[in-house]
Amino acid sequence: MERVFTDHLGDWKRSCYCGEPRVDGVGRELILGGWVQRRRDHGGLIFVDLRDRSGVIQVVFNPEIDPASHEKAKQIRSEDVLAVRGSLTKRPPETVNRELSTGEVELSVRELRLLNASQVPPFLIEDETDANENTRLKYRYLDLRRPQSLGHLLLRYRMTKKIRDYLDSKGFIEVETPVLTKSTPEGARDYLVPSRIYPGKFYALPQSPQLFKQILMVGGLDRYFQIVRCFRDEDLRADRQPEFTQLDMEMSFVQPEDVIDMVEGMMTALFKELKGIELKRPFPRLSWEEAMSRYGTDKPDLRFSLELIDFSSAFKGSQVKVFSGAIEKGGLVKGVKVAGGANLSRKELDDLTAFVSQYGAKGLAWIKFTEGDWQSPIAKFLSEKERGEILGLTGAKSGDILFFVADEPKVVYEALANLRLHLGEKLGLISEKDYSLLWVVDFPLLEYDPEEKRHVSVHHPFTAPLEEDLPLLEKEPLKVRSKAYDLVLNGVEIGGGSVRIHQVELQKQLLGLLGIGAEEAKEKFGFFLEALGFGAPPHGGIAFGIDRMAMILSGARSLRDVIAFPKSQRAVCLLTDAPSSVDARQLKELGIKIALGD
Ligand code: AMO
Ligand code: AMP
Repeated sequence: MERVFTDHLGDWKRSCYCGEPRVDGVGRELILGGWVQRRRDHGGLIFVDLRDRSGVIQVVFNPEIDPASHEKAKQIRSEDVLAVRGSLTKRPPETVNRELSTGEVELSVRELRLLNASQVPPFLIEDETDANENTRLKYRYLDLRRPQSLGHLLLRYRMTKKIRDYLDSKGFIEVETPVLTKSTPEGARDYLVPSRIYPGKFYALPQSPQLFKQILMVGGLDRYFQIVRCFRDEDLRADRQPEFTQLDMEMSFVQPEDVIDMVEGMMTALFKELKGIELKRPFPRLSWEEAMSRYGTDKPDLRFSLELIDFSSAFKGSQVKVFSGAIEKGGLVKGVKVAGGANLSRKELDDLTAFVSQYGAKGLAWIKFTEGDWQSPIAKFLSEKERGEILGLTGAKSGDILFFVADEPKVVYEALANLRLHLGEKLGLISEKDYSLLWVVDFPLLEYDPEEKRHVSVHHPFTAPLEEDLPLLEKEPLKVRSKAYDLVLNGVEIGGGSVRIHQVELQKQLLGLLGIGAEEAKEKFGFFLEALGFGAPPHGGIAFGIDRMAMILSGARSLRDVIAFPKSQRAVCLLTDAPSSVDARQLKELGIKIALGD
């Protein structure tokens, strides 16, 4: 039968949160409100655990104290909303609950107001839930009642508050930039918004406020920041959302060092505030080249070592044909040593081979070092000289295992970077409590995109080249390094930025190298090029993924856990059911016809 509660709050004023009362308040009369965690009936008494965002308190309905509220309490179910008035009493010692902050007291009820009945919730509201994620997202308001969800949002709030306070103290001004705007090239697809007033024309939602923040520097703002929503229609992955939040920053009259220094100060303050951790400064720094060669990735997790070892020169002309063959084609042979890994089973080795094949590796050669013996599918092809070089490069000892991948560089790096992470997790080399921050610098300015058959920016087209590499710009553009820097936290790129090109001629030259002709440049960012021509100061900045930072700092498993209303893995808002169809009338007003299946 449908339960309907019709009581109102009336003249009641809540005394405090449910999680607050302690023994020093015993004897006081309190009014509390909250949700029913659970109800237990016990020898004529009814116990209710009443919950709000602060915690839980036990509330007791005793027929001898107030028969009317005891009678009413019989209808109570999980997640109903109640208000109660009663006196705070001390629990008898044997009933104290050490797990609750309020575990030494309880509220003895004199009056109950039933404010709202709840439907039976589709999952229990408890910290460790095994409810299906899609169900949790559809009923996100119930999911948010879990203390863990609240904890994530709270940490996120404290993070953005601290960021605002810190940047404010350094003279930064928060400025809002438009959401209905023109496309900014950050490399993903734009979300478009059709214009009703100009049928056939579209606004783009910003992938980042990049051009606006640079224009603010031309406008003399000097130090800008914004905590801002960005939109990217890209293929979804665990660490991406179609809309996400950036801490976006820009400063004038700076070199990379100045931005890096400012960010280190901010991060140090954040870690102290949120984690009680004193970070050591300066943060470690790797050039892009070194990061790739030692870890196979531009975002290495430095919480454990397992560095890549280069065997290419050892295997030139080798009888191990998969190795020498790869080298002849301009590829590499690289590997990792796992100390004490010789006890991995055949099945585990097969699983690891299957694992690297996801990244295009054609195999995973291995050598197990056991007492006086080399066990390996390639052992019989190894010359004495090669054996000597392997030992020299790795210092392998009895009990160790080596893994090798031979292929074109891209495959070798991707396979081994992922194998390294996989082994780090599998072998328990990563401590969840550690935080490793790292700058990656000296990125290449450009890379070649074989599909588009042109150079593309590694960051974005507004990134400045290193001054010393400027002479290479026309002759050997792929050798030019940039004034870009990424900040990596535990193997996740949490931020990226650069010093920008501030002179219009250099900007035009760079757009030319990207195959963007004068006409196209004028049409796409003429307004921006024009602004550069009116006295743009040297400037640079950075943007951080607030969701990614909140995820790592709160120990959450996915970005969705630290976003109040996230999209599902398939880019759907399961709560509101967006995206959805719209009225024919709306489409007509916009001059849009749906041409599905054409
Ligand atoms: P970039 O594209 O590197 O730089 O973005 C900055 C940071 O934003 C986060 N991020 C994301 N987080 C969640 N979901 C996504 N889909 C997503 N995409 C990016 C990452 C990333 O490091 N305008 C430049 C910054 C600059 O040059 O100042 C920019 O947007 O943590
Ligand atoms: P095969 O000669 O193909 O039987 O391979 C012998 C061993 O070399 C197996 O352990 C394979 O997994 C491994 N292997 C094959 N191709 C490669 C490669 N490109 N890189 C590394 N190991 C490989």
